[in-house]
Amino acid sequence: MSDFDTTRRSWNNATRNHNAHKGDQAALLRSGADVLFAEELELLGDLTGKRLVHLQCNAGQDSLGLARRGATVHGVDLSDEAIAFARRLSTDSGVPGTFERAELLHWLATTDQRFQVAFTSYGATGWLPDLDGWARGVARVLERGGSLVYVEFHPLVWSVGETFGLDRDDYFTRETFHEPVSDYVRASGSALGVVEFADVLDNDVPAVSWQWTLAQIVDAIARAGLRLERLREYPYANGCLVHPGLVSTEGRRWAWPDGVAKVPLMFGLRATKD
Ligand SMILES: C[S@@+](CC[C@H](N)C(=O)[O-])C[C@H]1O[C@@H](n2cnc3c(N)ncnc32)[C@H](O)[C@@H]1O
Repeated sequence: MSDFDTTRRSWNNATRNHNAHKGDQAALLRSGADVLFAEELELLGDLTGKRLVHLQCNAGQDSLGLARRGATVHGVDLSDEAIAFARRLSTDSGVPGTFERAELLHWLATTDQRFQVAFTSYGATGWLPDLDGWARGVARVLERGGSLVYVEFHPLVWSVGETFGLDRDDYFTRETFHEPVSDYVRASGSALGVVEFADVLDNDVPAVSWQWTLAQIVDAIARAGLRLERLREYPYANGCLVHPGLVSTEGRRWAWPDGVAKVPLMFGLRATKD
């Protein structure tokens, strides 16, 4: 079985578990509830009438939030469960969007579709073995004048241990990780939309992932010919409890506790194809 197959099966299990905690998401979407954060919205700007591809869209919640802001949205993801859920969510909420199950690197290198915006966020390139292929592919699917917006957890966070020492993963590690996708939605509670804690099956399928540094990501984007317009770092993490010692703060965010140096927990960027 290929790495992509085990990652797909792991994400199928995890997505089923994550959504089990989130109640009636179509009703929430219809009621106007928003899962998007100010950071991506600021980098994306006005989406009215834009053709947008949401890369690694998972179950489509963010995608449909972007569609509600006026974009024509196409979501791409490896997980069958995520894409099936996204299609149901679009139908049940009445918010339009199209969703495609595909391995992203292959899709980026082969699709005929072109977009004005490529958006990806919160746990994206770490699942991909080829960062240069990803960046080249993003540049390929963008029209001239189109932009990539990427908001991500800062790779530094995976180096910080439970007691805040630098005793976890080497920032520059080239290791391949084999770990089941966890039920991080349960751990993050209402910050990731939990309305009730469901009984879920343990996910025991190891997904395959990699660590990319911030410089490797920015460098790959630059070498793919995209012009960096914005690069930001943030002292908090949106939604996901990416370290067990973080404290809950306003706006569904997590921050380092008092007494811990405020190294970045997220970065965001916009890069444009001239
Ligand atoms: C942490 S989730 C991204 C969450 C997303 N930002 C959202 O809006 O909910 C990571 C996603 O990457 C997808 N993924 C992992 N490897 C992939 C690949 N090679 N091609 C396409 N999608 C992939 C997984 O199926 C999963 O849905």
